[in-house]
Amino acid sequence: MRFYDIISAAAVLVTGVAAAAKGSQPNLGYAELYKLTQQFYDTFQYPNNVKEAEKINSTIFAENVQGRVSDTRNFEGRELNTEYIFGLFIPTASVSVIGKPVGPYEIIQFAANQNIASATTRFNFTFPSFGNISLPIAITTWMTYNEAKEITQYDVVFRWFGNVLQLLLSTVDKDPVKAQAKGAAVLATSTCATHTQFCTGNNAQYESEEECIRFLTKDIRFGQSFELGMDTLLCRNVHEKMIHFRPDVHCAHIGKSGGGQCVDDYSYLQKVTEDYYTNAPWIPTTEQSPPYGDH
Ligand SMILES: *[C@@H]1O[C@H](CO)[C@@H](O)[C@H](O)[C@H]1NC(C)=O
Ligand SMILES: *[C@@H]1O[C@H](CO)[C@@H](O)[C@H](O)[C@H]1NC(C)=O
Ligand SMILES: *[C@@H]1O[C@H](CO)[C@@H](O)[C@H](O)[C@H]1NC(C)=O
Repeated sequence: MRFYDIISAAAVLVTGVAAAAKGSQPNLGYAELYKLTQQFYDTFQYPNNVKEAEKINSTIFAENVQGRVSDTRNFEGRELNTEYIFGLFIPTASVSVIGKPVGPYEIIQFAANQNIASATTRFNFTFPSFGNISLPIAITTWMTYNEAKEITQYDVVFRWFGNVLQLLLSTVDKDPVKAQAKGAAVLATSTCATHTQFCTGNNAQYESEEECIRFLTKDIRFGQSFELGMDTLLCRNVHEKMIHFRPDVHCAHIGKSGGGQCVDDYSYLQKVTEDYYTNAPWIPTTEQSPPYGDH
């Protein structure tokens, strides 16, 4: 394909996306979008995230919010997103690769237009399960907002997460193979203890803690950094932290089936070609500001 053809194809694609928008989007303006981004990160910061998670249905999110988190999956609706965005990052008794967003944070890249804000934020985390090691984490977000200034869509990337995971595991053992084996044992033990405590009756996924540990350490893979939404131990370790909120919803995610969250059904090609978002276009649509047009 020649360069000009690529540009034309891109223009057609962009026009198509804009045309698919349901109605016009609010024009919130740059300053308001910056404030909303700050408010989001203030709320994400521990211990404010504890209070937000307690609300169960955080109105930071629209009722029909659609979210995508790098290396995991897509998350729909207010309640689930309150759990995943605010609840997941609260320290619990479980051993987890998920850190604690203690701050401070700094918005280091920002652009906004109409109802769309894009930011890169450097946020200090500590990792309670890894000797409280402190690390800055770079988070890139695209967000869209509705009239009520609720998030209708977000697309978040934890930058260089593979590096983060490698660094965390290197604190367990300098030899990466031993580090992974030790990590697997500890994460599986924690996940299975959580299962024993919360996944009882109809929510039980394993016959016993021994069966659970055997499955998590022998029958499935540990998982690479980009497999937090696949049939891996790492995926189940992420979901372990959600179980106490709603065992009936989350226990299946740490079970053998993976409950639709920890499943090998989401390939690279599916991810990269998926047209996921339907609530709002990611291209400004107000009459005064289209950067494209009919050529
Ligand atoms: C949260 O929202 C869901 C979906 O609207 C609803 O079913 C649930 O009862 C709400 N929970 C609380 C505690 O308000
Ligand atoms: C990590 O920090 C928390 C809070 O300051 C503390 O309660 C905990 O004991 C620390 N854990 C380790 C392993 O140092
Ligand atoms: C974030 O943590 C790092 C490492 O502990 C520390 O050096 C740095 O000062 C912290 N950043 C801010 C803005 O406090």
